[in-house]
Amino acid sequence: MRRLLGVLALATLLSPGLACPAPCSCSTKKNGRLLAECAYRELRDVPRGLSPNVTILTLSANRLGRLGRSSLAEAPELQSLWLGYNHISAVEPGTFAHLLHLKNLDLSHNRLADFPWQDLGALGALQILKLSNNRLSRLPRGALAGLRELRSLWLNDNALATLAQGAFEGLPALAQLQLFHNPFNCSCRLFWLKEWARGTSAALSGAGSTLCAEPARLRGRPVTEVPDELCVAPSAQLTYLSSLAKAGPGDGLTLSLHCSAAGSPPPEIRWRALTAAGRSLDIRGPSAGQAGQRRRFLAFKNGTLAIPDFGREDEGTYTCLAVNEVGRREVSLHVALAGSRDPPEELPRDDPQAGQPRGHGCAAADEPEPSGAGEKLVIVYHVPRGVRSGAGGREFPLGILPLALGPLLLW
Ligand SMILES: *[C@@H]1O[C@H](CO)[C@@H](O)[C@H](O)[C@H]1NC(C)=O
Ligand SMILES: *[C@@H]1O[C@H](CO)[C@@H](O)[C@H](O)[C@H]1NC(C)=O
Ligand SMILES: *[C@@H]1O[C@H](CO)[C@@H](O)[C@H](O)[C@H]1NC(C)=O
Repeated sequence: MRRLLGVLALATLLSPGLACPAPCSCSTKKNGRLLAECAYRELRDVPRGLSPNVTILTLSANRLGRLGRSSLAEAPELQSLWLGYNHISAVEPGTFAHLLHLKNLDLSHNRLADFPWQDLGALGALQILKLSNNRLSRLPRGALAGLRELRSLWLNDNALATLAQGAFEGLPALAQLQLFHNPFNCSCRLFWLKEWARGTSAALSGAGSTLCAEPARLRGRPVTEVPDELCVAPSAQLTYLSSLAKAGPGDGLTLSLHCSAAGSPPPEIRWRALTAAGRSLDIRGPSAGQAGQRRRFLAFKNGTLAIPDFGREDEGTYTCLAVNEVGRREVSLHVALAGSRDPPEELPRDDPQAGQPRGHGCAAADEPEPSGAGEKLVIVYHVPRGVRSGAGGREFPLGILPLALGPLLLW
């Protein structure tokens, strides 16, 4: 009889539904979910011997220090995992990746400086994620993408200085976000957060204590109250000017494109050339020559790009990119060289929009236009010396007739 009881007891212990590690107490809840209650047990590791059916695992207020990849392998059915108030400083990537039914994950009040963000990709059922009171200093771009059920996200009391733009996009169910008590650097890189907070239906809990720590002039001010005028996306306009080289190699003509950009902070200007031959070049200032090539382009800090000895091989599309922490703007100009031997007769040499005497202040892409739509075409028209007299005493720079043509004359 005793023996029979013993066998029964053993069978009970081994029956997968009821197995319970010694330090824990397990119970089946009314809704049939299996709870393993292991909080306040001074545990240093996740206990072994969990039922594979366990759906709720409470490990709060223990002494867990590190979660290894297989520490939760026994419990693939978990829906709630409570790990708050431990000493967890590291979680090996993959630890959570197999918990496909996980809805609640609490890792708050630990010592995490990093988190296996990639594991979240598998946790499509996650509704509550608590990572507050840790040492997290970054939330990688796209880390939360795909958490379509996520309702509540706690990231308060961490070491976050910035957040990648769009960090909270693609979270349609998000209702509550806590970010307070982080040392936010309110450079314009974080300005998107203010605009996001303005437009979202989610509640930014404790917005009044979600404060800037940097820069000094904004210290203590709520992230959502950074003045709009401090952060303005770039605007840009492109003008051109051509002139004969007064001194320099040959009698070539220099085409100068000038990109004037405004914004706050002042945008950095970069150039990109896509030549008609299909070559794409990134040109960076202050004075750049492409490695291994002759020094074709001169990009100056003031926004001017000079192309000395403009020739056939320089035809193409020139794009000015104005970039600051708030955004970027592109403006483009097509540049073509009219045949130097046989200048096409039909080109409207006196187009009033085109080169004014001395080629100063020519046509501008005034309304900053998105690249690809309504771009201006500039024909650089190099009149050979023999034909020059035909220009009839006008004060065009020697031999040069810059023309701006509308899109109708696109080549
Ligand atoms: C545990 O799950 C298995 C299969 O998933 C099932 O056969 C068993 O009845 C479950 N046990 C309990 C106690 O729910
Ligand atoms: C704040 O961010 C800006 C740019 O985003 C950076 O240049 C600056 O060094 C940062 N300040 C601190 C204190 O980290
Ligand atoms: C920009 O600087 C270059 C070189 O100093 C100069 O040749 C050019 O005229 C300047 N452009 C403007 C618009 O001031």
